[in-house]
Amino acid sequence: MTRRRLYLSVPHMSGLEDDYVAEAFSSNWLSTVGPNLDGFEREMSERLGHGVHALAVSSGTAALHLVLRSLGVSAGDRVAVSTLTFAGSVYPILYLGAVPVFIDSDKASANIDPALVAEYFRDAAKRNALPRALIAVHLYGQHADIDAVAALCEDYGVALVEDAAESLGATYKGRETATTAQMSILSFNGNKMITTTGGGMVIAKDAELIARMRKWANQSREPSVEYLHNEVGYNYRLSNVLAGIGRGQLRVLDDRVTARRAVATRYAEALADIPGVRLQDEAPWGTHSRWLSVLMLDPSELAVGPRELIRDLERDNIESRPVWRPMHTQPLFSDAQSVGGSVAERFYECGLCLPSSSSLTEDDQTRVIGILRTSFMTLAVPR
Ligand SMILES: Cc1ncc(COP(=O)(O)O)c(C=O)c1O
Repeated sequence: MTRRRLYLSVPHMSGLEDDYVAEAFSSNWLSTVGPNLDGFEREMSERLGHGVHALAVSSGTAALHLVLRSLGVSAGDRVAVSTLTFAGSVYPILYLGAVPVFIDSDKASANIDPALVAEYFRDAAKRNALPRALIAVHLYGQHADIDAVAALCEDYGVALVEDAAESLGATYKGRETATTAQMSILSFNGNKMITTTGGGMVIAKDAELIARMRKWANQSREPSVEYLHNEVGYNYRLSNVLAGIGRGQLRVLDDRVTARRAVATRYAEALADIPGVRLQDEAPWGTHSRWLSVLMLDPSELAVGPRELIRDLERDNIESRPVWRPMHTQPLFSDAQSVGGSVAERFYECGLCLPSSSSLTEDDQTRVIGILRTSFMTLAVPR
């Protein structure tokens, strides 16, 4: 008999969403305006603090598209971005006809390496080839060392954007993620820390920029009784129904972070005795949201790598995945400039993302750990 499938990261409803959704139905606010949208944006800005404003949209990718356009990114511009990320961090660069420049990870946090950013900016400045913007991704819920990157961006006049799609609930030096740059994006895709089934958000300190992006996201309708358009727009608004789900989810964000962190701790403790296996470290500058628990496998100590473990887990109907394939190794970006590269490639070769849902039970996790331990033991390097 096939055992119940365990997924990497699934939506986790709290029940609080129901009232907001029911209210949208009973009041007939079912489209792209309404009290849930206003409430979701207001409650997210209040939660994040630091005077930020929020714009709810249909996806994190859409949010990043709006942000890059608001920064004036246009055809032929360069935009630097972490190479170790999901394609959604990069596609919006292409939507604007701009060119990505991929930056390698630092060895400790797997996030964009500030030392490489320094090197790249120094060389690019000499060639008059600085990027217009830099997107720092907070990988798997671990914050990048953003102060170091922000100082460099400031020195060289490069706009900094935080891709906090995976890190809602994480902190950096005591501050909430998505508040440490002028502009950030969040994702509420079904697999994220909280979900609206699909959706995203722009977080920005400048209210006027948010207003411009709001107009673009709403088909660039000018405020007139007829439909008047001066510039190109997109249909990127989130619906009031989905924003209701977001409001209920936001109320349990802290519980979701606690649960995912507990999942990560259990993996770390249950596998602590196996040489060459460790959970991705938590950087000293903040708290990890542990959106995904990532195991790092040392090939010099183990005869088994991520691919064998993925196969063994799959046999028991458990989903797991390698770490993101670095963008500079993707066929789509074979011509792109990349700075460094081997650190991200090593994370990709040695990293394994495990089931990490906040609803994962201890019994579910015992099942995952059992398979992992058997694979490690049967395929261990003879000592
Ligand atoms: C790092 C990162 N950036 C951007 C995105 C895009 O978000 P969305 O799926 O909401 O478009 C995702 C996830 O999906 C992501 O993981």
